[in-house]
Amino acid sequence: MKLNFHKNHKLLFGVVFWGFIFLSLLIAVFPALWVQQQNEPLPASEPMTELQQKGLNVFISEGCVYCHTQQVRPIEMDENWGRPSAPGDYARIGRQDLWRQTPAVLGSERTGPDLSSVGQRQPSAVWHYMHLYNPRSVVEESIMPSYPWLFSIEENPSEDATVISMPGRYGPEEGQVVATERAEALVAYLQSLDQVPMDAEPSAAQQAKADSVAAQAARKKIDGATIYANNCASCHQQNGQGVQGAFPPLAGDPVVTDEDPTDHIRIVLYGMQGVPIEGTEYQGIMQPFGEMLSDEEVAAVINHERTSWGNNAPTITAEDVAEVRNDEDLNQIQADE
Ligand code: HEC
Ligand code: HEC
Repeated sequence: MKLNFHKNHKLLFGVVFWGFIFLSLLIAVFPALWVQQQNEPLPASEPMTELQQKGLNVFISEGCVYCHTQQVRPIEMDENWGRPSAPGDYARIGRQDLWRQTPAVLGSERTGPDLSSVGQRQPSAVWHYMHLYNPRSVVEESIMPSYPWLFSIEENPSEDATVISMPGRYGPEEGQVVATERAEALVAYLQSLDQVPMDAEPSAAQQAKADSVAAQAARKKIDGATIYANNCASCHQQNGQGVQGAFPPLAGDPVVTDEDPTDHIRIVLYGMQGVPIEGTEYQGIMQPFGEMLSDEEVAAVINHERTSWGNNAPTITAEDVAEVRNDEDLNQIQADE
């Protein structure tokens, strides 16, 4: 049979028709199915609550994404924020309303840090409120804008209002700072960002890379000042002075300067909340670091605190930390403290 497209109309239309079907499958249908498959929510993730969903809307409408894109590329600089994001991280994000389908959390700018695991790094709601009201109140040199319109100033806040006591010069002249519903939703959303683990087996190449990163980390000198700057300074501040009413000072603190380091170790391993210190009750919480830091790192950061800002207490070793870690009676903060 000769392929005569001029005379054989069945051949002509047949080729056009099947060609169309073939190309549609190849460049539209199969890729769409593939994307859908890759977009399953991660097994360990939970659906967003209504409040968190509202918070996401605030995040978008306030333009947080202009500095905090959630699209994180696998570049070395970002390694201390955790793994790069995967499509599954966004699978739970539904449409916002009739007109806006996929939320604009994938910008290109990262003027501020990646927030995809900020719920783990910074679980304290009080810290977030203070930071949103005025970032300088907790991060002195921050260039992030303030969002005072997420708060109201009230003379007599009601009992169930979320009152944020801002330290001295950061507070309003009169009245108290009260978080609005939008602020509460936004903070609930920020706290929910905790980068659930991916279940997939790492490929050989990823494993090799992870091993080399771990080996690099092991070779790196463990340095208390750096660990303090990365994990503690956001609340206790670089100068160890804390933030009035929210986070206690560690300079001259009775636990930090105590000869017996047991409480100091215990608090760093297991966290602390709602325990008055020298008559002051602090609004903030201190999260546990036992899972995040090794015995050597805990010892290093504790020694940094014990020997900085005029503190001059005996230092400790990783063995002291291991001892507290392994003592069942000490593995929680006693209520009567
Ligand atoms: C102009 C850029 C910019 C915008 C807009 C911005 N941020 Fe930031 N953000 C930063 C910078 C810079 C930092 C680091 C300094 C700091 O912690 O304040 C930061 C830090 C943060 C942190 C602390 C991260 C950490 O790991 O400690 C949070 C949480 C945060 N921003 C939330 C928000 C939210 C929510 C919004 C929107 C309401 C927002 N940011 C808008 C620049 C920005
Ligand atoms: C999210 C904010 C936050 C971070 C981060 C944080 N802390 Fe705290 N820390 C607090 C608060 C709030 C308290 C007081 C809790 C209370 O009074 O119940 C506290 C208490 C302490 C105390 C006990 C002081 C006393 O007299 O009882 C020590 C010691 C301490 N922190 C060390 C650290 C170290 C070391 C790190 C870093 C590895 C760290 N903190 C990170 C908020 C924080």
